[in-house]
Amino acid sequence: MDLIDIIEETKVVPVIVFNNTSEVEPTLTALCNGQIKIAEICFRTDCASECIKIAIDKFPDMAIGAGTVINETQCKEAIALGVKFIVSPGLSEEIANICKQHNIPYFPGTITPTEIMRAVNLGITRVKFFPASVYGGLKAIKSLSSVFPSVKFMPTGGVNEDNLKEFLNCKSIFACGGSWITKGTPEEITQNCLKIKSIVKGEN
Ligand code: 3PG
Repeated sequence: MDLIDIIEETKVVPVIVFNNTSEVEPTLTALCNGQIKIAEICFRTDCASECIKIAIDKFPDMAIGAGTVINETQCKEAIALGVKFIVSPGLSEEIANICKQHNIPYFPGTITPTEIMRAVNLGITRVKFFPASVYGGLKAIKSLSSVFPSVKFMPTGGVNEDNLKEFLNCKSIFACGGSWITKGTPEEITQNCLKIKSIVKGEN
């Protein structure tokens, strides 16, 4: 299954900031126990690269991506580690070009029509919409979609179990990102995943 198929089937992308390498195994095991086999590990802490490496080595069945990638150095480092996708809070043409050369999906953050036009000009039609709750949420995405019908959004920032269904009901949204999924004990994380699964299946 290719990465886009995995994301579109899972419908959520857990956004994880690890503060210590010891957090990787229990967190990712809890996600796998809840049948969510994708994770975006953010470049926001010093241990990010090491955590990505551990994740890729120990969880070969998971689609591990790098998030909060804000420069070329981080992008190259993440790709060398073997990530399956790259996410940025904003749009970087340099990062887009590196990802294109390596055939790695890139989800840049775009909020305004101008930013979306820049992404589309780079050949990108799946974008992150961050921070979704600050920039108009679903209402903004629906307005942007009427202008950019070929673009699909991944709202992140303020998405949670209570509003996930509403976001996912919008056809212009291909997935939602969020940190809420991996908050709590491993048991709670697995429970979060199972709740998400039932929301995605329409049972909730
Ligand atoms: C991100 O980096 O995408 C956000 O920090 C996630 O936002 P959330 O914590 O509101 O889910």
